[in-house]
Amino acid sequence: MTTILARLSDLAADAFEAEGFARDWGVVRPSDRPDLGEFQVSGALGAAKKAGENPKALAERVADRLRATGRFETVSLAGPGFINLTPTAGTIIADLAALQANPRAALAPAGTPAKVVIDFGGPNVAKAMHVGHLRSSIIGDCLQRLFRFCGANVVSDIHMGDWGLQMGLLIEEIAREQPGLPYFQPGATGPFPAQSPVTMDDLERLYPRAAAAAKDDPERAEAARRATAALQAGEPGYRALWRHFVTTTETGLTREFASLGVKFDEWKGESDADPLIPGMIADLRSRGLAVESEGALVLPITEEGDKKELPPLLLLKSDGAALYGTTDLATILDRVRRHDPDLILYVVDQRQHDHFTQVFRAARKSGIAGHAALEHIGFGTVNGPDGKPFKTRAGGVMKLADLIEMAREEARTRLREQGLAVDLDPTEQEGIAGAVGIAAIKFADLMNHRLTNYVFDLARFVRFEGKTGPYLQYAAVRVKSLLRKAEEEGAKPGALAIAAPAERALALALLLTPTAIETARDKRAPNALADQAFAIAQAFSRFYGEHHILSEADEAVRGARLALSALTLRVLETLLDLLGIPVPERM
Ligand code: ARG
Repeated sequence: MTTILARLSDLAADAFEAEGFARDWGVVRPSDRPDLGEFQVSGALGAAKKAGENPKALAERVADRLRATGRFETVSLAGPGFINLTPTAGTIIADLAALQANPRAALAPAGTPAKVVIDFGGPNVAKAMHVGHLRSSIIGDCLQRLFRFCGANVVSDIHMGDWGLQMGLLIEEIAREQPGLPYFQPGATGPFPAQSPVTMDDLERLYPRAAAAAKDDPERAEAARRATAALQAGEPGYRALWRHFVTTTETGLTREFASLGVKFDEWKGESDADPLIPGMIADLRSRGLAVESEGALVLPITEEGDKKELPPLLLLKSDGAALYGTTDLATILDRVRRHDPDLILYVVDQRQHDHFTQVFRAARKSGIAGHAALEHIGFGTVNGPDGKPFKTRAGGVMKLADLIEMAREEARTRLREQGLAVDLDPTEQEGIAGAVGIAAIKFADLMNHRLTNYVFDLARFVRFEGKTGPYLQYAAVRVKSLLRKAEEEGAKPGALAIAAPAERALALALLLTPTAIETARDKRAPNALADQAFAIAQAFSRFYGEHHILSEADEAVRGARLALSALTLRVLETLLDLLGIPVPERM
């Protein structure tokens, strides 16, 4: 990838170099005063200051050199030494042609880590997925698409919560409800029934009940802890019952993730790290890294210069039970052994930041991380209109499946209101309503910086105007139908040309896409992609509003506009695909 910014910066760097200054003063950026020029260099200010020269005089000399390249329509000075640049149409067309010839090569930035593991989703056994898992799934999926697009070999892992105290709570609750089940017979070694004694609904009903009971009754809490330790120690009946919890939950999750359009390469869970724990602990002990503390085994992780005191990572409780951090550490060991990643991303609620600091430090200190960089990609909460984390009207957790259905319903209503998709057959209409609902939810999430909290407001998300998923989908569909119509009429895309301001603006918007993709990758910030998709849709909308395309009589002009439209569709579809937003054929 060479972006228009890189190309222009090269010209400016040449100019600074010729004036005896370092090349990196020649950084060209999109102008924040587009009325003065489309691009801007501000390096003359810093360069002159450092050399004790007059910035205006230096800017003038650099500007002269830039004019002499013949690549700019205008080069002008502003303020104390800013240089504003407006490239010639030829300069822009050369870059557009490169984009047209090989979109992937032109859009994907170099310098992506080769092997990346992305840990996201993170649903828990026996608990319905809620909006927090929705964010992890949407952002994580976007990042896996993005890193793949940039050329990384990505392994995504759902990392199910299937091993902690909640398992013991459930086992205890079921033992109370159905004590006669074979799983609870002392000394039973199986075989146990192949049929699960509980459905997903049972699990969702039992878990909160068990959690509440344990909170009020220390004896029940203790029983749940014992059951957890026994499960982890390999008690056959508990293991068999637990297997049912896991497979029952997985069946439900498969459906939910399919409706979101999210795929994982690995469906591993915390439990998969369990076999590695004894060896890992023994190693940490023998190296003196893991130490006893108040009956528990911990790994101290404080570092010099810490502003706040971070507690050690708890490895084993006094009853021998492993904890969330233990499985996370062992999972790193597992991932490093199996995948040898350069980078592991954890897309998890920002409220778990301290947990990841502890785990990452432990992994580095012990060498478990190998050469993998470990990063917590945190995100904020989804709030209700009251500004507190989103709940159902009754105050319970909002299930993901219900949320998706609500969005689909809202989409049906809006499509009807807008007169969209009304002539299509019911199956296609339903498909479109589903796609619009998903677009609404995903875009509303991804358009915010991930660390920002936002208010869940379906009525606003499912609008066809403004900065929304449905607006972008509709923009793409509109270009599609324009191109389809052109083909039916035998109008062919022709050589690229740029004359009118709206054409230039669209072209420049397209050419800033690789920069947005690079920013999104480097900052792990999907909102850069969302902003870019919106900027392109807006630029196209202006272009479409100001110019005739199909009805343009001049064949060359029509051909050029169709070529620009086709390129717009390519780029917009790429961006929407990176955001995980499907684009229907028509609406
Ligand atoms: N199951 C966890 C939760 O619901 C999220 C798991 C995140 N991933 C990890 N490796 N800890 O909070």
